[in-house]
Amino acid sequence: MFYKFRDKILNVDKALRKCYYVSRFFRKTKNFVFTGRKDNMIQWSDSLSVGIESIDEQHKELISIIQRIGDIVKTQSFDLTSISEIVAELDDYVRVHFSHEEELMQESDYPEKETHIKQHDALRDKLDTINVFDVDDYRKFINETLMFLIDWLSGHILKVDKRLGAYLQENGYN
Ligand SMILES: [Fe+2]
Ligand SMILES: [Fe+2]
Repeated sequence: MFYKFRDKILNVDKALRKCYYVSRFFRKTKNFVFTGRKDNMIQWSDSLSVGIESIDEQHKELISIIQRIGDIVKTQSFDLTSISEIVAELDDYVRVHFSHEEELMQESDYPEKETHIKQHDALRDKLDTINVFDVDDYRKFINETLMFLIDWLSGHILKVDKRLGAYLQENGYN
């Protein structure tokens, strides 16, 4: 009797452990697919779409620039020319893209405009502080910049741009 009871408890314990590991696996997998991140790189996936074509196209272009920074990391070509060119391209494109979103916010009278623009300002300020001619360790710099951009962009698109996209859609934009 005691052994039967003990076995039942052990089985319940086993089942609970299984549930825990399965749910942990799915939580991790969901996060992985949802953020569009893979192997420390960001990839376009429909889960990143904000539902507004012009914004999605620009996000794809930003992701492609980040992927090219990733290529520099992979090929280990940490020379000043390739790094300064790609950082300048990123800097320009981020500004073009933010202006586009901000024009849409203005035009549509977006109620969360101020907090959204504050986030854009934070990245613009960060980019303003980057001076590739002042960098001692290109490898470290490019790795840190890459990781920062992947985190920033995936977080911003999923949390902030998606809210803007939903509002624009509700107001007849597509
Ligand atoms: Fe944005
Ligand atoms: Fe954006």
